[in-house]
Amino acid sequence: MTRILLIVGGGIAAYKACELIRALRAAGHEVRCVLTEGGAHFVTAMTLAALSENKVHTTLWDLKDEAEMGHIRLSREADLIVVCPGTADLIARMAAGVADDLATTLLLATDTPVLVAPAMNVRMWLHPATQRNVARLRSDGVRVMDPDDGAMACGEFGPGRLPEVPRILAEINRLNAADHSSLSGRHIIVTAGPTHEPIDPVRYIANRSSGKQGFAIAAALASRGARVSLIAGPVDLPTPARVTRYDVVTAQDMALAVEVALPADAAVMVAAVADWRAADVAPQKLKKGDGAPPPLQLERNVDILATIAHDARRPRLLIGFAAETEQVLEHAQAKRRRKGADWIVANDVSGDVMGGDANTVHLVTAAGVESWEHLPKTLVAERLADRIADAL
Ligand code: CTP
Repeated sequence: MTRILLIVGGGIAAYKACELIRALRAAGHEVRCVLTEGGAHFVTAMTLAALSENKVHTTLWDLKDEAEMGHIRLSREADLIVVCPGTADLIARMAAGVADDLATTLLLATDTPVLVAPAMNVRMWLHPATQRNVARLRSDGVRVMDPDDGAMACGEFGPGRLPEVPRILAEINRLNAADHSSLSGRHIIVTAGPTHEPIDPVRYIANRSSGKQGFAIAAALASRGARVSLIAGPVDLPTPARVTRYDVVTAQDMALAVEVALPADAAVMVAAVADWRAADVAPQKLKKGDGAPPPLQLERNVDILATIAHDARRPRLLIGFAAETEQVLEHAQAKRRRKGADWIVANDVSGDVMGGDANTVHLVTAAGVESWEHLPKTLVAERLADRIADAL
């Protein structure tokens, strides 16, 4: 049984919070509800109390409650706080650290994991302000689900619908299952993103890696208590909570940063390191001149993964990534042996997945292959973090 504190925000999807309470109770969880002023326009405290079989809390200024159960205790006595529906306004106030009602005060006073199931109009969800707030919450360690896509109560269509109750339940079960200390005391290096290899002061060789997978892995490892050194190429992503980040540009910088971060119990090399760099970086911008292409001499970059595989301080568990478009498993097995990695996570990039949020990956180890079909990058990260915790 998990003690869940459910914060019901003010949106039309609030009625689905009732469905969620029933599903949570049926799954054996205890539910306590906090109803915001906005939420009370859509569902009544009476309904929530009847479904949860618990008193519903609505105000910060209830002296009796402060005497019997202060708002701090209310949040700390929960194993998980679920915000459903998470409206644009509630998400914005959470991101800004506002504490002007019972819900936001509880959220600011707690160190309990928080899950937000957002629901709002599609334009509100897509608005840069909301996206900024969601990114900030995620980087603070709050689990903000992606909303569902589809027809909305307001007649518009797109992302913004409350995730279906079974999806919220699955997310709650997953958060409950995560052991927050399974990697405590371990140091893990993660490389992520592309590298940029300069040609002249304004041009560089790069690739389309977004860094999302590596950042999600760093977050999942840190949430299990690991000390994570995230060595990131040039990407525009927030630093996950409790992760130490080192920003680098070139493959040489990345190799050096990995070297400095050693020793480690494990290293997860997710970065799409450029294989080549310009042999001579032009000090001035190259001119197109008479139309003949400028001579561009390339030389090989150091293979960071293969180098640390043969280092005296080799981490006990060394994991490489491989993006393949064909013969995925064959190439991944060969790469595992060639580079001296323990595991390769083979990424099937035959579709258009680079930079996207979902992935089909195969975990290739000496023992065989495990395939994870079409999972969001965050779930790939969670599963990999669980496997790493089992292995260390
Ligand atoms: N890697 C590295 N340093 C490099 C190149 C790659 O550490 N200079 C790591 C990547 O982080 C990743 C794995 O090696 O974990 C990918 O290997 P790589 O040979 O680069 O894969 P591909 O580019 O897919 O190789 P190929 O050209 O053989 O398909």
